[in-house]
Amino acid sequence: MLNFDDIPGGKADGSNSDEQENSSDLIGRKGRVNQSDKRLINCQTVDVNQLMPLKYKWAWEHYLNGCANNWLPTEVPMGKDIELWKSDRLSADERRVIMRNLGFFSTAESLVGNNIVLAIFKHVTNPEARQYLLRQAFEEAVHTHTFHYIVESLSLDQQEVFNMYNEVNSIHDKDKFEMELTADVIRPEFSTDTFEGKQKFLENLIGFYVIMEGIFFYSGFVMILSFHRQNKMTGIGEQFQYILRDETIHLNFGIDLINGIKEESPEVWTPEFQQQMVDRIRQAVELEYNYAVDCLPRGILGLSAPMFRDYVQYIADRRLERIGLKSQYGSKNPFPWMSETIDLGKEKNFFETRVTEYQTAASLTW
Ligand SMILES: [Fe+2]
Ligand SMILES: [Fe+2]
Repeated sequence: MLNFDDIPGGKADGSNSDEQENSSDLIGRKGRVNQSDKRLINCQTVDVNQLMPLKYKWAWEHYLNGCANNWLPTEVPMGKDIELWKSDRLSADERRVIMRNLGFFSTAESLVGNNIVLAIFKHVTNPEARQYLLRQAFEEAVHTHTFHYIVESLSLDQQEVFNMYNEVNSIHDKDKFEMELTADVIRPEFSTDTFEGKQKFLENLIGFYVIMEGIFFYSGFVMILSFHRQNKMTGIGEQFQYILRDETIHLNFGIDLINGIKEESPEVWTPEFQQQMVDRIRQAVELEYNYAVDCLPRGILGLSAPMFRDYVQYIADRRLERIGLKSQYGSKNPFPWMSETIDLGKEKNFFETRVTEYQTAASLTW
């Protein structure tokens, strides 16, 4: 609790005299923050309100990269999408792909945002990592806003889109997998103080950063960007490019956070736990493949469901490697253009040639 006696120069009665300012007991009363004492979780000795001095520079860099990518869905014109959607130039199968992906992403973004705010934030005890989480939470709100904007622009059935996670099995299965991970951590008795608690927290981070944002989002990215490559639904395509750019940073932050906690608590990264995480990721690959089959029962846009088995396995291998687990599949990437677009190892400015480049407020001319 804030105590006025803890504030240099301030007293509970509001008085503030030169004599008090010069008093030696106001200096170093609680000791100054030593960045080497900072910990990602379970830090009881460092004031979480003191960002500087930084210890985890990667967290601050991800924060700055996120801030360099400010955007709002309403900046993207939707006129061409509206015209095409209202025409008879889209097949039923093409409409199905669009609708399924709007349905999945519209609520998945909320699940990620809620997991940050309700499950992750409380247990991360480091100010620079929290600074990033605050930024990411805002970006997830912008992503949810995107689906509100698309639904309104195309005059879609709001209830149909935002209820798909309850009504469409392939979407429900992916979201149920994630919601159970959130439920485990938001139980009042949950703590990261214990061995099991630390493992459970890591499982949540892997479930959201590696699986949700690193695997479950990617079939949708391929499908919607395939439309964009064929000059169809380009407004939605551009929105997905912005989202993909943000999600690349989310994934990179999550991997740094997971690896950082592993380094600080190596005892919890047991062979049994590693196998459980591999099994989780293998289960996620099946759920994502089922989702792709459901979206694409017949091939369109040069895409077919079997290609997604290879693709999802390929990206799962890359994610496994980045958290120090063995790749499982050895599949080839059937969509090399996705790598060119996003470059899985690269963190920023991968859309250098697009209009999605952002000017910060300081550089705007009026
Ligand atoms: Fe998102
Ligand atoms: Fe995200």
